[in-house]
Amino acid sequence: MKRIAFDEDRIAKRVRELGDEITAAYPTGELLVLGLLKGSFIFLGDLVRQIRRSIQVDFLVAASYGSSMVSSGEVRLVYDPETKLEGKNILVVEDIVDSGRTLDRMMQILSARRPQSLEICALLHKQVAEHLSYPVRWVGFDAPKEFLVGYGLDHAENYRHLPYIASLQ
Ligand code: IMP
Ligand code: MG
Repeated sequence: MKRIAFDEDRIAKRVRELGDEITAAYPTGELLVLGLLKGSFIFLGDLVRQIRRSIQVDFLVAASYGSSMVSSGEVRLVYDPETKLEGKNILVVEDIVDSGRTLDRMMQILSARRPQSLEICALLHKQVAEHLSYPVRWVGFDAPKEFLVGYGLDHAENYRHLPYIASLQ
């Protein structure tokens, strides 16, 4: 059973707002948008088209979840961006922050590469993480504490293609 939590129109409107805010936040310098795969792929594709300045795009692949609905906290970097991070503004784009463990680990790895700035934009935030070392600067929506799928989010690799976000119940 699925219940629609955020429909296409609502997502599109919010993504436009985020694009505007991000554009305004980086008046100068190089901006590298780093999408955390796979969950961010649709959000990232929509978001970068709403950013009105020059950017570069790359990805990070961190394996963490498997098919379980609970975060393991174990993070493995299976693809690392080709591009140099030093001296650039880095914007990490994530699908959803739940425990925040995945993101925290990624951010430790990235900050060691001495970017000029390092910020996070997450489409969804469950607001349950207690000790996030890196604050999430841009959040699309506060998410219900349910398991969500669609718009990039999966359950056991299914449902990523849905144009809306639904909760599985
Ligand atoms: P965290 O480490 O607990 O914050 O989990 C982060 C990752 O777990 C996200 O990037 C998602 O890939 C996955 N995840 C967390 N919550 C959900 C959910 O409700 N639906 C689908 N994937 C989720
Ligand atoms: Mg993910």
